[in-house]
Amino acid sequence: MQRWLTSEGWAVAAISLCVVCVCRVWMMMMKNKKKEREEKSVLQREEERFVIPRGSWGWPLIGETLEFIASGYTSTPVSFMEKRKSLYGDVFRTHILGKAIVVSTDPDVSKVILQNHGNAFMPCYPKSITELLGKSSILQINGALHKRLHTLIGVFLKSAQLKDRITRDIERIVVLTLSSWMGKSCQLHVQDETKKITFEILVRVLMSIGPGDEMECIKREFEEFIKGLICLPVNLPGTRLYKSLKAKKRLLKVVDKIVEARKTSMEDNGENVPPNDAIDVLLRDSGDSDGIPLDFISGNIIEMMIPGEETVPTAMTLAVKFLVDNPIALAHMVEENIELRKRKKDSCEDYSWTDYMSLLFTQNVINETLRLSNIINAVWRKALKEVKIKGYLIPEGWCVLASLSSVHMDEMNYENPYKFDPWRWKKMGSAAYNSIFTPFGGGQRLCPGLELSRLEISIFLHHLVTTYRLSAERDEIIYFPTVRMKRKLPITVTPLEQ
Ligand code: HEM
Repeated sequence: MQRWLTSEGWAVAAISLCVVCVCRVWMMMMKNKKKEREEKSVLQREEERFVIPRGSWGWPLIGETLEFIASGYTSTPVSFMEKRKSLYGDVFRTHILGKAIVVSTDPDVSKVILQNHGNAFMPCYPKSITELLGKSSILQINGALHKRLHTLIGVFLKSAQLKDRITRDIERIVVLTLSSWMGKSCQLHVQDETKKITFEILVRVLMSIGPGDEMECIKREFEEFIKGLICLPVNLPGTRLYKSLKAKKRLLKVVDKIVEARKTSMEDNGENVPPNDAIDVLLRDSGDSDGIPLDFISGNIIEMMIPGEETVPTAMTLAVKFLVDNPIALAHMVEENIELRKRKKDSCEDYSWTDYMSLLFTQNVINETLRLSNIINAVWRKALKEVKIKGYLIPEGWCVLASLSSVHMDEMNYENPYKFDPWRWKKMGSAAYNSIFTPFGGGQRLCPGLELSRLEISIFLHHLVTTYRLSAERDEIIYFPTVRMKRKLPITVTPLEQ
């Protein structure tokens, strides 16, 4: 009995165990399936969460190009963006200049575009610009070589050695220009005068060229070259693009010669002194096997002049315009700068670049000028793969326009955004230096000339307001195709001592 019970018991126990195991496995399988189903539907929902931004393609072929350009001729060029933002949201799609474009007016989305982790985006310019730039231009290349070039130039332009040295040069050029106004009883055009100052600084920083025939030749050819940046992309004899490409060829010849001469002198004298200019920086790197190829130095020196040539004089000119239109801000600025001038005179010391940068109200005037003038109003990119940001899907091959000006002119970011108010920066403090203030772009392609530009503008404004009383005539800002003054900002200056 006991034996029978025992073996029966074992059998029942074994069967029960099997049943329990099968049940458990079945339950686990069901649970897994349920989990899989749930995961799938979450993924599906995630996928559905990312949508191509809403918007309109406009008219066949021309899309919304005419409205886009027309808004550039008004005093509120962001009106094109504002209208679509109110209809479709902060990120929308449109069709301008022959391209399907996603426009971002959202600082978070624009930040991701500018950071460009994983190299999902590359620069995207109108055809006339890409034709003129050359394939290895810093403004066009992507990936490791771009990173190397950007870092080399950025480190040089931000270095204390350069700023120490260039401060003397900038002062000399500014003071010389200002004193040339003395004799004239004097009406002058700020836009022309500032261009003369900044061009000389630019060629000095990039290739150590001073005033003279060579500089005049570079200036002449460069001006001819950049006339073609915005034109019909037709390269036939007589067309604008053709003439600009010819000018670039002549310019390349001149710069090639300068690079060759420098290379020879570097071979003779060694590389023990700190680099004097951008040519030195690039030549030293070109010695490495994975460094900058020698044959693209001259082209890049010319192409680095493009973002630097018009932007700084425009910022100087608009700062003068905003100041003469706002006498209280001007008076405040004069007071701060006269105070520094007195201190320097009393101590018989030269100015250092940090003296200029320590003028807090002046720095706030520069911030406010850069915010309001939106000299580079947007950056253009092309998606190299499908990109998903903040619920939006940008299909591969589409262009993306990160509208910097929309963020600067949005009342969610800046109270009373159309008002010139340098005092707002005191209230905003360091909070301002994030994704809502991007006059110099951001991320991988953040302008390497940022600190140099600020220094140039600070030195110019300091000597201007401590030397002259200013009175300007009426003039208007034009925003298309580039920001400038309609009448080049005519002003009358009277020496302060009088
Ligand atoms: C107020 C003056 C300036 C403004 C507002 C400005 C603005 C900008 C902006 C927005 C970008 C980014 C473009 C993009 O992401 O596609 C940029 C890039 C650049 N800027 Fe400036 N810039 C100024 C002055 C200068 C100066 C003086 C230089 C040269 C000495 C310079 C050299 C460059 C270069 C080489 C790039 C390309 C960087 C790259 O793609 O890696 N900029 N600038």
